[in-house]
Amino acid sequence: MPREMAEYPKLIDFKEIGNSALGYITVAEYQKSIPFDIKRVYWTYYTPNNLVRGHHAHKELRQMIFALSGQIEFQLESQAGEAYEFKLDKPSVGLYVPSGFWRTIKLSHNAVLLCLASEVYVEADYIRDYKDFKNYTKID
Ligand code: TYD
Repeated sequence: MPREMAEYPKLIDFKEIGNSALGYITVAEYQKSIPFDIKRVYWTYYTPNNLVRGHHAHKELRQMIFALSGQIEFQLESQAGEAYEFKLDKPSVGLYVPSGFWRTIKLSHNAVLLCLASEVYVEADYIRDYKDFKNYTKID
């Protein structure tokens, strides 16, 4: 997937291999369904119901996020103020989040969020202040 096709947040249907009698496998594979080199994988779980996480944006990080179980609600906002809402509740659906989006996230207590990330963890990549996010100018 070329980068220019993927610079806005969107849900992506991944293939479900299998059937209800057998169960399913879903595959996320670099150069076929993931538009970046995966450098880090993390997962979030046992989040208290109704707690809102996130409250940050990333300067460079791009992510493909799955709800492997439970339900996850995402609110995303671009620097220009475009707002997006997504609900993940199916393990075969990924949410692509480009760099530069402020996010708030609500997970059901039974949710397991899997994130495939384009960069290793660097705290300096976070913008944790909303005003800083709105004023941030990317330097290439
Ligand atoms: P953070 O990304 O702020 O989580 P959320 O937006 O879901 O609330 O991360 C929470 C804490 O975990 C923060 O102190 C940084 C740490 N952390 C790492 O050390 N490595 C990682 O790869 C991630 C994602 C977080």
